Amino acid sequence: MIFHNLPGLWKGMVKTMVGVYFSGTGNTKHCTEKLVHLLDETAQALPIEGEEAVEALSRQDFIILAYPVQYSNVPVIVRDFIKSHGALWKNKKVFCVATMALFSGDGAGCSARLLKKYGAEVVGGLHVLMPDSICDVKLLKRSVEKNRRVIRAADRKIEKCAEEIRQGHYPRNGLHFCDRIAGLIGQRLWFYQKTKKYSDQLKISDACMGCGQCARLCPMGNLTLKDSRASAGSRCTMCYRCISACPAQAITLLGDRVVEQCPYDRYVSGEDICQGIAAGVLQMSDQSIYCGGDRWEEERRSPEAYTGKR
Ligand SMILES: Cc1cc2nc3c(=O)[nH]c(=O)nc-3n(C[C@H](O)[C@H](O)[C@H](O)COP(=O)(O)O)c2cc1C
Ligand code: SF4
Ligand code: SF4
Repeated sequence: MIFHNLPGLWKGMVKTMVGVYFSGTGNTKHCTEKLVHLLDETAQALPIEGEEAVEALSRQDFIILAYPVQYSNVPVIVRDFIKSHGALWKNKKVFCVATMALFSGDGAGCSARLLKKYGAEVVGGLHVLMPDSICDVKLLKRSVEKNRRVIRAADRKIEKCAEEIRQGHYPRNGLHFCDRIAGLIGQRLWFYQKTKKYSDQLKISDACMGCGQCARLCPMGNLTLKDSRASAGSRCTMCYRCISACPAQAITLLGDRVVEQCPYDRYVSGEDICQGIAAGVLQMSDQSIYCGGDRWEEERRSPEAYTGKR
């Protein structure tokens, strides 16, 4: 996209831009869309799992790359995306955005180092605190109201960042050497095994009613339906998308019980989406919140439509 309505300084620095993001539960999607549209209301924010992202990447010269941190690291799906399109990063200006629930040290720096290997010029980094997405672990859970405040603070940080970029000053969150030490000692040294490769640890309980929602949403194609029950493979990128959307709360990964389903829209919607999912009256459209479409699609259904069992 050609920049419109922007001050001369910023306009002179880059010609075209696109936001490319991975988002498990919607936080990173929101942050990317907000930043991209503040910088250029005509520019796109695209999910990395869609075909359009690669094509846009090859055309644009300024890329905002965004993802949620996982144990102070970049999700495997994002690392693979960077590597498998290695030739496309050469000479691109990239601004790395990492969302997180509490701390990452060098969340943005992790992708920055990889991108530099492929010839990208990393111009800056932004860390944004958002609600925690790990539905089956109690740690870091906040009340809905607190999470709304977290999102409002995140929005203000993104607005400030956009203003700074327009003035030609890129924030450098997570890009300093001390951030790297903090990320390494704070987390990566202890949890590196968890993010080293795709996981085969997803568990599906007998509560599964075979609705197929998880299989439709999984960005890795890691879930299939067999004999009216979901079954998981060994290519999970630990995004928590299926876990936060399962109407039966039947899926777990790091924990053994779903404590709270926490999709981003829960905090901006008037009604309690999670209760709606659990009751079987709300459904997410296949490519909706996480994948670039509209917000939650309210498909009012009878519980039987989901289960055929109840
Ligand atoms: C497997 C996993 C590991 C995570 N590790 C961290 C972490 O190390 N530090 C942190 O602050 N947040 C961590 N989080 C929280 C997410 O980064 C955060 O909630 C993020 O905003 C989710 O974004 P999304 O909705 O776009 O997926 C982790 C989440 C998951 C699923
Ligand atoms: S979303 Fe939940 S209930 Fe539906 S198929 Fe997947 S595991 Fe089963
Ligand atoms: S299986 Fe679930 S948590 Fe794993 S990648 Fe697919 S949607 Fe994400």
